[in-house]
Formats: sequence, structure tokens, C-alpha cells
Amino acid sequence: MTDRLHNNPPEGLSEGSWAARDLKSLLHPVTNLALHSQRGPLVVVRGEGVRVWDENGREYIEGMAGLWCTALGYGNEELAEVAAEQMRQLSYNHMFAGRSHPPAIRLAEMLKDMLPMDVGKIFFGNSGSDANDTQVKLARYYNNATGRPRKKKIISRTKAYHGTTVASGSLTGLPPFHADFDLPIDGVLHTDCPHYYRFAEPGESEEEFTDRLANSLSQLIERESPDTIAAFIAEPVMGAGGLMVPPTNYFDKIVPILKEHDILLIDDEVICGFGRTGNPFGCQTYNFKPDTMSMAKALSSAYLPISAVAVPDYMHEVFIEQSRKIGMFGHGLTYAGHPVCAAVAARNLEIMARINLFDQVKAKAPVFQSRLRTLADHPLAGEVNGVGLLGVVEITRNKSTKQLFDPADGMGLKCADACAEAGLIIRFIGDRLVVCPPLIITEAEIDELFECFRAGLDAVLELCRGKLD
Ligand SMILES: Cc1ncc(COP(=O)(O)O)c(C=O)c1O
Repeated sequence: MTDRLHNNPPEGLSEGSWAARDLKSLLHPVTNLALHSQRGPLVVVRGEGVRVWDENGREYIEGMAGLWCTALGYGNEELAEVAAEQMRQLSYNHMFAGRSHPPAIRLAEMLKDMLPMDVGKIFFGNSGSDANDTQVKLARYYNNATGRPRKKKIISRTKAYHGTTVASGSLTGLPPFHADFDLPIDGVLHTDCPHYYRFAEPGESEEEFTDRLANSLSQLIERESPDTIAAFIAEPVMGAGGLMVPPTNYFDKIVPILKEHDILLIDDEVICGFGRTGNPFGCQTYNFKPDTMSMAKALSSAYLPISAVAVPDYMHEVFIEQSRKIGMFGHGLTYAGHPVCAAVAARNLEIMARINLFDQVKAKAPVFQSRLRTLADHPLAGEVNGVGLLGVVEITRNKSTKQLFDPADGMGLKCADACAEAGLIIRFIGDRLVVCPPLIITEAEIDELFECFRAGLDAVLELCRGKLD
């Protein structure tokens, strides 16, 4: 197929291959379309455990758990079976106008029991993006209902990723998700990205950096006026913006500022939720208590699409009052809490509990993190960081000045291609190379993952001799 490492055009794609058919038929999400039309796709046809195979029979470790989501890995028979059973029993039922069904009720009960916060009710959706759109709408609805119609703005952060729909895409703080889509919408503000390695001032300690960001947030709130700010949304660890682990005491300093101004803290656990950071939820790793939470991805280990929003009781009580005044609560999706998705998600959580997955991740995380950090000695490696089973290596021209490569060099892509050649799928976000394997990965597979990662970096080092400072 394509010569991925050297970026040649897709010569010799056979007419009937999936790759050739893809190029004629698909518009790809979050893809450089010009590049795609030259290179063609990586067509994956099978998965088992932490591994996937492409259409040419080539095997890879899925080092990104798909899109940070296949927590239990691929090919889980029990989840396949529960989906088939539920399809036979009740393939669909909606939840509009008070209709309900057992899988959604059971899953909501399980989430209420496990979430580390005061949860009143669970609202289901289909994706992380729609969960965060729901958050924006609930914050507006709640503040209108409580007589605070000015309190509507949402503060997000530069480089945050919260989805791509009109509202969640606005919360996302990354230029390609805004440019020419006329986003962000009014009422969305972005405060500083808490990335110490890139944004600290010379000589600034991590603690001082955190203080500066907390001050900057306070100033933003004062400037806008606290009675105009409804909520602050944050991922515990910023994921798709490049995997940034928060600096020391970040949430300890931010949360009191929000409390002081009666600003809701929306915890976006779409990546961190269900074990990823070494605790069931990222807010436990960083020791803060959110008002509401968005969940998706590992909620079903991506066997089927489902998302959830945790709604506190005090909000739900206001919503009931609002129905008395203005009628029905006018928000929801046809497939919200879909019985097959809910049954699979519930079984996914049962399996996680049965195999003590969260304890397993806690035990494996130090191994993963120490293997990751062995890459720090690589000539291409700048920042090497991570938490739980999340890791990032940022490649730089110069380790001490942290100078990045020219974007035109496409070094991130070259590294991802070289890792794929070595048998590992990673994700490149600019020149930040991210790994986030299925949570069921074994220690032997962690070793293999990092051997492939180093082999990929070595191959690129060969290509770029003379470009390093
Ligand atoms: C933190 C976070 N929130 C929301 C989303 C959006 O989820 P989805 O792609 O399911 O809409 C993502 C997706 O990566 C995410 O990482």
C-alpha cells in the first residue's frame, strides 16, 4: 500500500481494496482531507485484546484504545452476547414523555452508586459531544429557572477538547475546530491552558505557574462579572489537545474561585472516567468534587455509543418546578439511553468490577509510567509525561530550548507512521505523540508497546539527522 514512512502518494492501490473504495466514498471526521486524498486510509478489519489488524493482515498494538475508548479491548464475547440478548428482548425503546426501560434504569443506578459526587439523576446521550451540549443547555436552563438570566457564560480553556458539535465545539479550545465553522458561539470564554512545560515563564515554579493561572481566572471572572458566568468546564487531564497533565495543586486553587462566585464545575470525564488515570474518575486523582460530570467512551468500552451526564438533585428539583411553570423539559435524543447500548454499558461496568480493573490499572500505572519515562533519553524527546495509562512524548529539535520542529516537516505524522511500521498505533497531536492503550493491557504488552515506540522514534531520528540542533 502506501509508503507511510516516506509519505508517498497511494500508488498501486488495487481497485477493489477497502482503501481505494474509502477514497471514493467517505468524508472523514477530524482528518487532513488533502493529505488523506494522497495517502489513503489505514483500514482496520479486526481486533482482539489490545491488538488490531489492517486489511493487509498487518498486526498493531492499538496504543490509543481507538479514540481513548476501548477500555476492555477488542473482541469481548460477553459484551457481544449481552448486545445480542438485549436486541432479542427489546431492541429499542425511547425515553421521551416518561417512557422507560430496565437497561437504562439499571445503568443509571450503577452510575449513581459509583460516582464520587452527589448525584441526583442521570441523563443519557450518544456521544461526549452531545453530553457537553447537554451541560451547556442545563446550565442555561437552570439559571433561567432560578431567575439569573444573565448567568450564562461558560469558561473553558485554551487547548481543551470537549467535542465538535456547535456548543461542545465552541468549548473546545483548538483553532481547527473553530476556523471557518464560525465558532465559538457567543458566551464561551477560554482561560489559560494549564500546561507547565510549554507555558511557564522562565524561572517560574510549577506552584507559581498554578497561582498565575488561578489569578488569571479570577481576573477573567471579575472582568466579565461573576453574575454572567454559569459554569467552568474542565477535563481532569487535557486529552485531545495534546495530553497535558495539570500542574501541582491546579484544581485545589481553581475550585475555590468557582465556589466563591457560584460557578458550576462541569467535570468532563469522557477520557479520564472509568479508570484511565489510576482511579475510577480523574476528579479522584486530582482530588476535587465536581457539580456535574460528562461521561462517554469507556462507559461502554466503545462497544456501542452511549454518554451520560450526572445531574445534581438541586438542579433536578428546579427542573421539576420549571415543568410546572412552562411544561415539558424540552431536551433529549431519540437514542438517549438506547436499551442495547445501556445493557452493554452496564455489563461493561460489571466486568470492570468483577476483574478489579481499576485496581489493576493502579498497579500497572507505575510500570507504564516508568517505561514511558525511559524514552526521555531519546534525542527527539522533549517533554515526557503522563498519569495512569496515559502517556505523551513531545518531540523537539532541541531538548534544552524546547524548540519545536517546523510544522511543515510533519514530524508528528512521521513518528506516528514510523511507530505503525514498528507495529504500534499512536496518535500525533502536532508534535505530541500520545499513547492511551486499552486498560486490559498486560505488563508484557506494555513492554512491547514501548519497544515499538522507541523503534519508531529511532527510525525518524535516522530521517532527520542534521535537523536537530
Ligand atoms: C474530554 C472529551 N470530551 C468530549 C469528547 C467528545 O466525545 P465524542 O467524540 O464522543 O463526541 C471527547 C472526545 O475525544 C473528549 O476527549
